[in-house]
Amino acid sequence: MEVIESERGMSVDQSGIERGFQMVRFLEKELGDLDTKTVLDIGCGLGGITIALASRCKFVVSMDYDIAKRLSVCKRRLRERGVTNVFPVCGNCLQFPFSHERFDLIILNGVMEWLGISDMTRNPRAIQQEVLQSVRALLKSDGVLYLAIENRYYPANFIVDPHAKLPIVDYLPRKCADIFSYLITSKPYRTYIYSFWGLSRILSKASFRKRSFYVPLTNYMFPYEIVNIEDRKQLVQAIYRFRSGRFSAEYRTAIKGRTGRVKFFYFYLIAWLGLSKLLTHSFVVLCRKSH
Ligand SMILES: C[S@@+](CC[C@H](N)C(=O)[O-])C[C@H]1O[C@@H](n2cnc3c(N)ncnc32)[C@H](O)[C@@H]1O
Repeated sequence: MEVIESERGMSVDQSGIERGFQMVRFLEKELGDLDTKTVLDIGCGLGGITIALASRCKFVVSMDYDIAKRLSVCKRRLRERGVTNVFPVCGNCLQFPFSHERFDLIILNGVMEWLGISDMTRNPRAIQQEVLQSVRALLKSDGVLYLAIENRYYPANFIVDPHAKLPIVDYLPRKCADIFSYLITSKPYRTYIYSFWGLSRILSKASFRKRSFYVPLTNYMFPYEIVNIEDRKQLVQAIYRFRSGRFSAEYRTAIKGRTGRVKFFYFYLIAWLGLSKLLTHSFVVLCRKSH
């Protein structure tokens, strides 16, 4: 197999390509062929999702504000892989350097929660809503936003929030979480994640009225299937399909995580009880611009 120098030693998480191909598979199922699509990958990081998208889409613009640690690696990977239909852009998505109605598909995978630390002077929710509004303006009239973010009420977040690395902050009102964070770390709490209902509200405020929610099994960083949140039967069946799924050994281990079977039993149980909206790990939302 060809060795890509810039990818030597990367974990499956850092590489992100397998994640990207699972997303592509889902997007093709939901949206049809992607080969005519112009895509914007916001917060592309090291570029794994971009690389997967580029293999199926017409053109990808990959954007990140971290040139030193991330976008420079992404650029090198693209060069070494000979990918020519990607335009990497260094920029902050609080101010997009693009004209309106340019993209068929926009990706925000694990990025929305970080927007609050891009501008420490304003309320994180207001920043997130503003970025979502700008994203909507960048979409063509039949364009789609793919958004993935953690669920505020995933029970393990009670013990430690995945971004702030603090207990209970996701379960507290935002102001109390901020005070709690100040007391423990001398820093504010700004990495807002949402419940199913909170996410619906902020998307609605950003004028995304047509939204479909999905459960990435078992989370959006290592999805092996992305299933409609309303479809309990499919969710239960998808849990069983993990065993026969085709992934690399490293990806399989990452999906299982530390808790393995317990985790799968949890996802089976919440799907069976119809509690995925409340208790799943994270959400994928497809938001259409048109009403
Ligand atoms: C958790 S990583 C996700 C990377 C990639 N989307 C993936 O799923 O593999 C979040 C990325 O968002 C980028 N990011 C955060 N805030 C940003 C902003 N305001 N503008 C552009 N990029 C941003 C970070 O630099 C980082 O690369």
